[in-house]
Amino acid sequence: MNTTVNTTEPTLSTRMDGFEAPATIAMSMRARALAAQGKDVISLALGQPDFLTPRAACDTAYEAALEGKTKYPPIDGVLSLKQAVQKKFKEENGLDYALDEIMVANGAKQILFNAFMATLNPGDEVVVPAPYWTSYPIMTRFLGGTPVDVICSEENNFSLKAADLRKVLTDKSKWLIINSPSNPTGAVWSKQDLLEIAEVLREYPQVWVFADEIYEHLVFDGEAHYSLAALAPDLKDRILTANGASKTYAMPGWRVGYAGGPKRLIKAMVKIQSNSTSGASSISQAAATAALHDCANDVEEMKKAYDRRRKMMKEAFSKMPGVTCAVPQGAFYVYPGIKGCLGKTSAGGHKIENDQDFAEALLEEQYVAVVPGHAFGLSPYLRISYAADDAVLEEACKRIAKFVEQLT
Ligand SMILES: Cc1ncc(COP(=O)(O)O)c(C=O)c1O
Repeated sequence: MNTTVNTTEPTLSTRMDGFEAPATIAMSMRARALAAQGKDVISLALGQPDFLTPRAACDTAYEAALEGKTKYPPIDGVLSLKQAVQKKFKEENGLDYALDEIMVANGAKQILFNAFMATLNPGDEVVVPAPYWTSYPIMTRFLGGTPVDVICSEENNFSLKAADLRKVLTDKSKWLIINSPSNPTGAVWSKQDLLEIAEVLREYPQVWVFADEIYEHLVFDGEAHYSLAALAPDLKDRILTANGASKTYAMPGWRVGYAGGPKRLIKAMVKIQSNSTSGASSISQAAATAALHDCANDVEEMKKAYDRRRKMMKEAFSKMPGVTCAVPQGAFYVYPGIKGCLGKTSAGGHKIENDQDFAEALLEEQYVAVVPGHAFGLSPYLRISYAADDAVLEEACKRIAKFVEQLT
């Protein structure tokens, strides 16, 4: 018998080296810690609706639990939800997906995880338009791929230009991420931009496209949302159209996401899910089915509130000296630029050299939590979520204005 005692500690995988929690979560944890010390903190750092889940969805979940819909659900999703998703894709997006081209997962985040897990090999590149939702590059690295940023500048309304895309595509490119309306900027990419992107993609037949349409219902000013797979049907076989209940129906805690895509990709993703989570909660899937069928009016009401707040934020930020703020046309974020504030010192004596300094000083001195743009790959900006009560937003804007006006 080997009696050698191994004195080293059990280790974590090398995959965890440099693997951080998203900056959005880190910032809200700091805000929470300050609030626990009794400070009057306003957190605009997290991207989640402040509304309650619509009543019809909650009632359906309750009934589902009582009716015994509490067994393991089918791995790829409950049939009634898949049918509701199929109908939604057809009616709202002009996309025809067979049922075996649709799957449900624990949030759109798990759709992304499944998709990357099913496709990425070491060295594969994922083209991530910046500024980006932090999980795209983090998940890419986690699964052995290499994220490649391509900047979507404020001058281009934070939209991806075909010429810039062409510069970063190589024979190693495996995925292109498209996220319109965008987190963090609220940008809605135009039909023309998407058509030109499709044109470039035709030159790179090995590239999958992850079209993250989770904010599609939050589009303002009469703008329209376009699904790439509908605009470029010849590319549909390599586009994964991802979506979910979290943002549209104020259901982030229910953890329901879904996607439509080519059968062989969906099949591989379901295989991964069968060996990881076994699918989304059966109760949540019942709630999401009701949301898709019956909650369009609730969505309209929420949208009106977001639109009102969006205008309020835009107005408040455009009055602040040294701050620029493009009019966001979608989602529930503003992404003001703070170039004019750099090199200054705050009332509390903090030197503001970059957006991280700004966000930290703002939290410490005015107790408002926002996320610095560097977390999303484009500085110097701040991402501010306006998915919060009007009065809270008004107070937050007052505090931010005070902070900016006192910079010297
Ligand atoms: C662009 C984008 N995609 C996906 C998600 C994840 O959504 P879910 O709650 O469905 O996992 C988020 C959440 O912040 C997001 O902003």
